[in-house]
Amino acid sequence: MNIDKNVEDDGVIFMSIKDEEQNKDSAKEGAGDAKSCGKSDEDLLILAIESSCDESAAAVVKNGREVLSNIISSQIALHTVYGGVVPEIASRKHVEKMNGCIRAALSEAKVTLDDIDAVAVTYGPGLVGALLVGVSEAKAIAFATGKPLIGVHHIEGHISANFIENKDLEPPFVCLVVSGGHSHLVVVKDYGVYEIIGQTRDDAAGEAFDKVARAIGLGYPGGPKIDKAAKEGNPDAFSFPQAKIGDAEYDFSFSGLKSSVLNIINQAKMQGQELSQVDVAASFQKAVVEVLVGHAIKACKEYGYDKLAIASGVASNSGLRELMEKECAANNIKFYRPSPVLCTDNAAMIGAAAYYEYKKGVRFGLDMNAVPNLPLGDRERRFHAGK
Ligand code: KG4
Ligand code: ZN
Repeated sequence: MNIDKNVEDDGVIFMSIKDEEQNKDSAKEGAGDAKSCGKSDEDLLILAIESSCDESAAAVVKNGREVLSNIISSQIALHTVYGGVVPEIASRKHVEKMNGCIRAALSEAKVTLDDIDAVAVTYGPGLVGALLVGVSEAKAIAFATGKPLIGVHHIEGHISANFIENKDLEPPFVCLVVSGGHSHLVVVKDYGVYEIIGQTRDDAAGEAFDKVARAIGLGYPGGPKIDKAAKEGNPDAFSFPQAKIGDAEYDFSFSGLKSSVLNIINQAKMQGQELSQVDVAASFQKAVVEVLVGHAIKACKEYGYDKLAIASGVASNSGLRELMEKECAANNIKFYRPSPVLCTDNAAMIGAAAYYEYKKGVRFGLDMNAVPNLPLGDRERRFHAGK
């Protein structure tokens, strides 16, 4: 993946993400012609919108797996000074940036709204004010153009990011979804059909990374900083507990591990000792990664699946990717993971998920609302009359 980045005056980073194949194609085709994206009558083009947290994003996706454009406007620098995402700032920046993202996504894909077959948007879970910006935008475009509207579950989007670079990946497979708000072990039984076999009892994996990073003075965003620090540290310097939950063997619990890190920090303070930040980072990361990989491999073996995917923010962790690759190879399981830039929030993954929803006949009405705590798996699907 190639990323063109531009830091804007307000600190927001505007990114256009392209894969090498796509770069070659756009050079060949030249700009300006609405059909230069190579759309045929059978092709389905989806304009996808994402605004559930602190990234405003828009993408044009062909047939669920071919990304014609992928634009992300990341606010992360604006929230870093507060040590986490400030919902009000996030919503306001989405309002400012979303139109520009959509315009750029259409123009990079060399299409106009006329060429688009459907408009898709994340309608939950996420921050309600942030979600509402994308939902309102998508409804306005659907209303103005008369195109079908499809609501997408954010986590189903993250799972579907795996379809973009792995053209051969088809359900059924096991997927480990690890983000700032979710840790789920899911069997993807079919497109859009999910069985949750494990989930966190307390902190999500990304939340644990963020809290531990703050405690050892690495700051926000914690995950990438621990990942980097862990490369310099000794993963065996501390032995942190790996919680096992008796009655639900695929569930996760990270709060005990987090408390154990905090205890070690406090003890060191009381004894006037200096702790090695990199050793704590490496030992903590090892403990989290071993639990995640252990559960995922066990699930594949016991449920009888030979394909395993990972998804969401923590899926870009280098320690997780390395150990999962090793364990998959040792157990004859085919391992799928999106490029790190497709693990973070983006709209291309929403377009991928929306394609399979569209094929099932899912259509939302203009009464679509943001659902901040939308559950994964058994959510209500709308099959509206009309287009
Ligand atoms: O999926 P995501 O972008 O947002 C949610 O939907 O929650 O995930 C964000 C989470 C944050 O907790 C962040 O610290 C974590 O993913 N994260 C990482 C890494 N990159 C992001 N955690 C560990 N290692 C990383 N390299
Ligand atoms: Zn996310």
